[in-house]
Amino acid sequence: EKDGFDHYMLKEIYEQPRALQSTMTGRIDEAGEHILLSDLKLTPEDVRGIDKIYIVACGTAYHAGLIGKHVIESLAHIPVEIDVASEFRYRRPLFKGKTLTIVVSQSGETADTLAALREAKRHGSAVLAITNVVGSSIAREADHLLTTNAGPEIAVASTKAYTSQLVAFYLLGLYLAEGRETVSSQERAALIADLRKLPEQVEAILAHAEEIHAFARSIQDEGHLFFIGRGLDYAVALEGSLKLKEISYIHSEAYAAGELKHGTLALIEEGTRVIALSTQEQLHEKMVSNITEVKARGAVVLGIALEDNVELHRSVDEVCLIPSTHSLLTPILSVIPLQLIAYYTSVALGNDVDRPRNLAKSVTVE
Ligand code: M6R
Repeated sequence: EKDGFDHYMLKEIYEQPRALQSTMTGRIDEAGEHILLSDLKLTPEDVRGIDKIYIVACGTAYHAGLIGKHVIESLAHIPVEIDVASEFRYRRPLFKGKTLTIVVSQSGETADTLAALREAKRHGSAVLAITNVVGSSIAREADHLLTTNAGPEIAVASTKAYTSQLVAFYLLGLYLAEGRETVSSQERAALIADLRKLPEQVEAILAHAEEIHAFARSIQDEGHLFFIGRGLDYAVALEGSLKLKEISYIHSEAYAAGELKHGTLALIEEGTRVIALSTQEQLHEKMVSNITEVKARGAVVLGIALEDNVELHRSVDEVCLIPSTHSLLTPILSVIPLQLIAYYTSVALGNDVDRPRNLAKSVTVE
């Protein structure tokens, strides 16, 4: 049932092109101009009337939500607040005006996320669930359902669920933007065209998995490492760091690159491995200076960069290139090498990749 792969996690990593495709299926018109989300029961008035959005989730789904916040704010111009479900449910969030609460959960059974959903409903907020499991508790209790259709995810470490949740956020962001007329039709069509190219671009990255294997070998004996990035890259850094900790048991930290100077730089010494993501053109220069800063303290840097970003290539020790796409869509591509780094490191260390210690696939208790 692993289709010839050694582990479910690797199988699920390689299933991503198909999973992304199926999240999109039936939700984009043939001309590639409009998003069709008839599964949602939102009326045009509902879409125009949203004053605020909460995104609530745990773990990897929370990391998808961080990207979702950025996407919805930049496309639909709606303020979005994001919270970890176990915090949200106990912090008495304010529900003023028309609030839409988006809960994100692969399994649809995570106890804290379900409790957050109920809390939001109790305050009169409409709830939209992004989930992979159609008959789950979260799917049943939400007012609006956006399924990711990624197929079953067995490995504890989430991979295809994350990237398909990102696709769901792109579709939702574009859909809300169309209803609120915040994006021109040309811009929307261009973004949709790039969205449709993602499955084959992921395929292209997977075809070069060997290069990433080599880097994973170089970190397996490290005591700790850093992931750094800015903007969307910072959100992806958090996901890469979680994935590595979860299955390799190597400690890592994800840092907003501009925060390094505020304490973390003290931990960089000769030979410290740093994975630096730089996919956001307007932030390239800033990232190059952050990379220079860590290298000056002896760090060995692996850059994850767009193929045409020559300046970054020169500033790092090794580079992993990803194909060019719209700046909002890069997380789907840049996370792939990070998933593979975590996977290969875990295998090299002889860990139980699919069932890491102390963790469960679905956290149904608090
Ligand atoms: O099923 P959910 O998406 O609600 O699960 C949330 C987290 O428990 C989950 O994403 C967890 O962080 C993963 N094991 C990370 O790989």
